[in-house]
Parts: sequence; structure tokens; C-alpha cells
Amino acid sequence: VDAKLLLGEYVSEPKRWEPLSDTQAMKLAIQEAFRGAGFVSPNPLVGCVILDANNRFLAKGYHARVGGAHAEIHALSFLSDVEIKDARVFVTLEPCAHEGRTPSCAKTLAKLPIREVIFGLVDPNPAVSGQGAEILRQAGKAVTHFVTSVGQDQKQWLQWLEITCEHFLWNYRRQQIFVSVKVASSFDGQMALKSGESKWITGEEARAYGHYLRGFHDAVAVGKQTVLRDNPALDIRESMLKGKLTKVVVFDSQGELLGQNLDLFEKHKPENLIWVVAQGVNRKDSRVGHIVQTNSPVGTHDLSSALKSIYDLGVRSMMVEGGAHLISSFISQQKAQRIYVMQAPVIMGAAFGKPWSEDVRIEKMSDRIALQGFLHQKLGQDLLISANLFQSL
Ligand SMILES: NC(=O)c1ccc[n+]([C@@H]2O[C@H](COP(=O)([O-])OP(=O)(O)OC[C@H]3O[C@@H](n4cnc5c(N)ncnc54)[C@H](OP(=O)(O)O)[C@@H]3O)[C@@H](O)[C@H]2O)c1
Repeated sequence: VDAKLLLGEYVSEPKRWEPLSDTQAMKLAIQEAFRGAGFVSPNPLVGCVILDANNRFLAKGYHARVGGAHAEIHALSFLSDVEIKDARVFVTLEPCAHEGRTPSCAKTLAKLPIREVIFGLVDPNPAVSGQGAEILRQAGKAVTHFVTSVGQDQKQWLQWLEITCEHFLWNYRRQQIFVSVKVASSFDGQMALKSGESKWITGEEARAYGHYLRGFHDAVAVGKQTVLRDNPALDIRESMLKGKLTKVVVFDSQGELLGQNLDLFEKHKPENLIWVVAQGVNRKDSRVGHIVQTNSPVGTHDLSSALKSIYDLGVRSMMVEGGAHLISSFISQQKAQRIYVMQAPVIMGAAFGKPWSEDVRIEKMSDRIALQGFLHQKLGQDLLISANLFQSL
């Protein structure tokens, strides 16, 4: 997700001293949070906007790098103590109460002459949730939980704020990897022709967005047939995250591709390549840093143990790019949390086409999979649609 897909528009950058409403300030803080996309995992994306006592825009900031400044501290770094007198600080997540790699933001804010802190979500850690707010209250600051202060729009704001840090929330609450599925398809749902031809279904803007999504996740995953047919590089060439080193996961239960000449081996360092093979498959390749054996024998494709091993390698979010068999597995086994479909205004036909849900077997209407929280956006001639799958965050 990015700010435009989530909010339906980009918020225009305010000039210094421009008056903003509370909702404009929080939307801008969400947009700011996404500037850290691709670089903060396993931390959440967080954004911050500071207004003066008369609600005029002073500064904004975001969490840009793991181990780097938190959003509040970044925004404050643009201002002097005089400028922040009686300021109102908007932040998408409750200021942290604990000292980690960086000092507690709540304590830092408590010492400053600001007037109010307005935060989006409470800290999801039950051991410390509410503590950041309490530190600020004790220091005499006004503290507002934004979501509960917006009346009938509460549900919408909760959705926006949660999606902003959905990878983190999912990891935190479930100790599981957040999985997205991405498909480029024709209007009638074909992702390739049966012959294997699939270039290109969508246009340049959709493809650039696909590259952004690669960088937005810690890893991208593909099935064996996609590697055999397309020999993809799976690097990031066409977006603002260009050059980011996302890990690559290949699902190849017999390890058949190991030892072959593939572009993947040219483009990615061994430590960034993860091969998922079946139980008992002992093939090796020095160009692949991690070969993960699942608990299931060759030919069966149970994803649970694979996902656990990938999580244990530090991957917190993964985008499954294809092909149809692998995507169908993730959907059938209910192992994906978000779907992105880039739909081109062309019909390819089911006779020679390959639908992306090829192996998803639903026999009764009552078993159909309902999606939640639709987001959509035009990308050139194509339409990007995204939604949550299965359980909520
Ligand atoms: N339009 C798009 O967005 C897009 C994106 C990617 C690919 N494609 C196209 O899709 C086509 C390839 O798709 P495909 O469906 O034939 O193959 P695929 O999904 O890429 O690969 C399927 C193979 O992966 C292996 N695999 C390992 N673990 C698996 C699991 N848990 N679930 C499913 N498979 C698993 C299986 O082989 P083993 O049993 O040997 O392990 C299986 O036969 C190509 O033509 C490609 O161009 C299109």
C-alpha cells in the first residue's frame, strides 16, 4: 500500500504557517509515514505532523530507518524550543514509552514545552499500551486518542491507521510473516497464456507500482514454473525504491532449479536468496544462502512450516508474485493477508488463458472468499485493486 492508494489522494504539502484541521494533519502524518516504506521493517511505519497553538503547520517527520530517529523526534528536529511552545503534535502511533535503540519518545515529548499530543493508534504491545500517553499526561500535556475523537468516521480512521502499519501489527499480534499476493491480470482474470507468454499484460505505471511493492516488502516469492518460464531478475528497477535489496524466496520443492543458470543468481547475493524445498531434499548451491526444508514431502505443498522458517530468517513481510499455482496455494491455505490485483483493460479468454486462481477450489457459494476493505486506484490505463483477505489484523 502507499499513501495514495490508502487515502484515495495525495495530501498537498502545506507551506509553513498554513492552517490545517486536525484531520488534515493526521492524513498528512499518515502520508509522511509511508516515506519510510521499505526501510523500517521490523518496525512500524510512523509519521508525525506538528502544528502551532493556532493550528498552523510547523513541521513533519517520519521513521526513516531501523535504528534511526522515530517520527516525532525527526519532526521536532526541524524546530527550536521557542517554536514548539504550545505546539500540537500529531503522530500516527502512540509515542513509545520504552527505551530501546532510541530514547523513549513519550519522555522526550514530556520534557518539551508542547501543549498537546494527538496519537492515532494505541501501542499494540499490551505491556506498554497507554503508558506513553500516561507519561505525557503526568507531565501536564493534553493527550488525545485521535480515533476515538473523530465520531462517526472512527471506523475509517482506524482502517487507515492500521493499514499504515499492517505488516508490523500482524507480526506483532501473531508472530507471523505478513503475506501479500500480487497479480497482473487481464480484465477477465488471466495472468498468462497457457503457452507461458505473459509479457506484458499491464502498462508501465502498473509495472512501476509492482516494483514499489517489491521494495515495500522484505521479500518477494515466486514458484518454480515462473522462474523456469520467465527467468525473472526480481530486482527493483522502476520505482522510488530503486536499488533496494529485497530478498527473494523461490518455492521449488525438488530443488530442481539449484545448479541452473538463472538471472536471479546474477542479481542477488547469496544471503538474500531463500530456496524452499521439500522434506529430505538435500541439494545445495553456493549461490543460495538459505535452503529451507519444509515438513512436507515432495509433491505436497504445505506452507505452514515454510512460512515459519522464512519468518525465523528475519523476513517480516513477503509478496507472492506468482505464478498461478503458488498464488492459489497461498489463497487455498489461507496464508495471505492482502491481495493486489492490477487489472488491464484487455480480455485474454479462458480457453488459452491461465487464471490466477487456477487451483482455488470452491464448490459451494457459501464457501466463496469475501474480501474486506477495498482500496483502488488508476495506474495509467490499468486499475489497481487491493483488499484484506481472511482474518482482520
Ligand atoms: N501476470 C503475472 O502477474 C504473473 C506473475 C508471475 C508469473 N506469471 C506467469 O505464470 C506462469 C507460471 O505459473 P504456474 O502457475 O505455471 O507456476 P508457479 O506457480 O510459478 O510454479 C508452480 C510450481 O511451484 C512449485 N511449488 C513449490 N511449492 C509450492 C506451493 N506451496 N504451491 C504451489 N506450487 C509450489 C511446484 O513445483 P514442485 O512441485 O516441483 O515444487 C509447482 O509446480 C508463467 O507463465 C509466468 O509467466 C504471471
